[in-house]
Amino acid sequence: MLKFTARNYARIGMAALTREVPVYAHFGITHRCNLTCRMCGIWRYGNRKEELSIDEIREMAARMARLGVVQLSIGGGEPFAVDHLEDAAEAFLAEGLNLRILTNGIGEGNGRNVVSGRNYLDRIDRCIDLGVRNFSISLDSLYPARFDYICEVPGSWETAVRTMTHIGRRLHGMPGSMPTINCVVSNLNLEELPDMVRFARDIGFAISFLPVELLGAPADGLRNFEARFIRYSPDMGVYREDSVEEVRARVDHAYSQLIAMKADGWPILNSTPYLEASRDYLKYGRFPAEGCDAGRLYFSVAPNGQFTICHRTTHQHVSFLDPGFEDYFHSAAYEQKRMMEAGACEGCMRACWIDTSSMFRTIRGFYETAKMTLTPRTTAPIDFDGAMAWARREDVPIVPEMAASAK
Ligand SMILES: C[S@@+](CC[C@H](N)C(=O)[O-])C[C@H]1O[C@@H](n2cnc3c(N)ncnc32)[C@H](O)[C@@H]1O
Ligand code: SF4
Ligand code: SF4
Repeated sequence: MLKFTARNYARIGMAALTREVPVYAHFGITHRCNLTCRMCGIWRYGNRKEELSIDEIREMAARMARLGVVQLSIGGGEPFAVDHLEDAAEAFLAEGLNLRILTNGIGEGNGRNVVSGRNYLDRIDRCIDLGVRNFSISLDSLYPARFDYICEVPGSWETAVRTMTHIGRRLHGMPGSMPTINCVVSNLNLEELPDMVRFARDIGFAISFLPVELLGAPADGLRNFEARFIRYSPDMGVYREDSVEEVRARVDHAYSQLIAMKADGWPILNSTPYLEASRDYLKYGRFPAEGCDAGRLYFSVAPNGQFTICHRTTHQHVSFLDPGFEDYFHSAAYEQKRMMEAGACEGCMRACWIDTSSMFRTIRGFYETAKMTLTPRTTAPIDFDGAMAWARREDVPIVPEMAASAK
């Protein structure tokens, strides 16, 4: 949710007119993570030594503010794996940026790169006390066993839900807050999406859906460096050559319900154009055809300060912390390189990019975002015990396709 200061209004207005102000940025503060989710390969690249010091992050915050950034997402990896995350949050807030922290909601890990010894919920509280009003927390199922299977750590569902209910209740009624569930749509949860929306509303959250991106073959991530953060996990893939019509019907059913719920005012963060594009992607494997504004309306910074036009590409540019970076960013050479890169890209389904573009390219996208952001949520969120009543314990197979082939 955006804090509407005069400066931010001016920047958003200018971005709408020119699409040349980078109002949105992503900072992957670390690649380290305490989980090893089945579809994600980021944790394999965790390296504490490459990460920026807090002084370098302060410099980054000042630079982002000068460039025109209004909204910053801090992601990873798991941001809470970084001991100075709270100091970093303070630095970005001091520069007037709106902050969203993307976390898995799970303080303890699996023995590998565990999150710092301090109590995780205390650290969340500290972020809220500093002024952080937005968190995105991953949850992909209402079946605890299924979600634990995705995270590869038992007990993940319950811990993540405990964190969510804590945040939902702490942020309730605070201006500018919109905690959000990040739900990756896959073969494992297609039938659950409308209930995920209902659950999100009950705990005081909005929800954002992102179709899963997977490697087509086990070694694809090695052959294509840009795909290194994705894993090969065929059980999560929706597309099936042997049952194309059945898959398309499942996807249509799921997304027609989401699009109708969005129109009815349910707290779905994605724009309608994004939901439509996701439906097509899951049905046909086709990315949206419209142009991408990466490097212009948004950009990304890696844990070591490397600037890229988006979260996924790896083309090298001047480092974000280089003294000459701002001149570079405004140069014709940069614009030419950016256009070539975005133009040659096969596409992606990252909601942050597509929705930011949609917001600044279409009146509908702008209207939906403004309405969602400005509508206050009035119902008090349920507590952890109430949320546990949503946990599905029925004896369903974790992987639906396995059950189908076993018949
Ligand atoms: C990379 S994580 C970083 C933040 C934090 N560790 C978390 O899990 O929320 C950000 C989001 O990307 C999603 N994600 C990871 N791998 C993905 C994939 N292959 N396709 C689509 N989304 C993916 C995660 O589920 C999560 O919601
Ligand atoms: S999705 Fe998030 S929590 Fe899961 S392994 Fe990737 S970075 Fe870690
Ligand atoms: S479409 Fe390509 S350039 Fe644009 S955000 Fe996605 S990966 Fe990046």
